Amino acid sequence: MTEENPKSSKIRDDAMKITVSRDGPYIVTGGVPLTSEEICNDDEGYCRTWRLVKRYPLQEQYALCRCGHSKNKPFCDGTHAKIHFDGTEAGDHEPYRDGAEVIEGPALSLTDNEHLCVHARFCMRAGGIWNLVQQSGDPTARDIAIEEAGNCPSGRLVVYDNTTGEAIEPELERSIVVIEYPPRDEHGPLWVRGGIPVISADGDSYEVRNRVTLCRCGRSGNKPFCDGSHVER
Ligand code: FES
Repeated sequence: MTEENPKSSKIRDDAMKITVSRDGPYIVTGGVPLTSEEICNDDEGYCRTWRLVKRYPLQEQYALCRCGHSKNKPFCDGTHAKIHFDGTEAGDHEPYRDGAEVIEGPALSLTDNEHLCVHARFCMRAGGIWNLVQQSGDPTARDIAIEEAGNCPSGRLVVYDNTTGEAIEPELERSIVVIEYPPRDEHGPLWVRGGIPVISADGDSYEVRNRVTLCRCGRSGNKPFCDGSHVER
């Protein structure tokens, strides 16, 4: 299987990047588009689609809150200093594939790195992506599995075409999406799309991926990445 690789990122603006500041916000540079989007349920209550809520004015540089306490979310307002936010990064630079389980089906294979789950729940419809991949000889099951994996914001789930060995990745505009899930009143992570580099406070680059989610509640044990801690369990 070939590592996922955002195909079009090479022809896009290489100035775009996100730098994690020590115990402070994400510094976004290079004019990265910023939107807010909601996860919408279908009639049966399964997470199914995205709805654009807001497109923020384009800025060359901005700071996004990662402590969860700004009064001006999604932007930082300096509150992290007043609350002495501990934004220590987990230091987990393990490549996605090293932590992923492989599930093989007739037409598709799936890699699943559960460590990255953000509870977006797109993967549960129609029997769940794990079953769908094993039934992927059926074109309908195959198509639903591809759709579910592509909607997984963290990229926990990646499907591969068994014929080519290539990852089947959605074409995503290089951008950041603030995720909201009104049916459960959940305020999700920042969805970093299209292969924007994320640089740790100590200057190291994390693995560049087409889909990545960053913590914005301050509670993740896997900072800077979301680990689903915003969801009450
Ligand atoms: S990181 Fe600055 S207010 Fe949250």
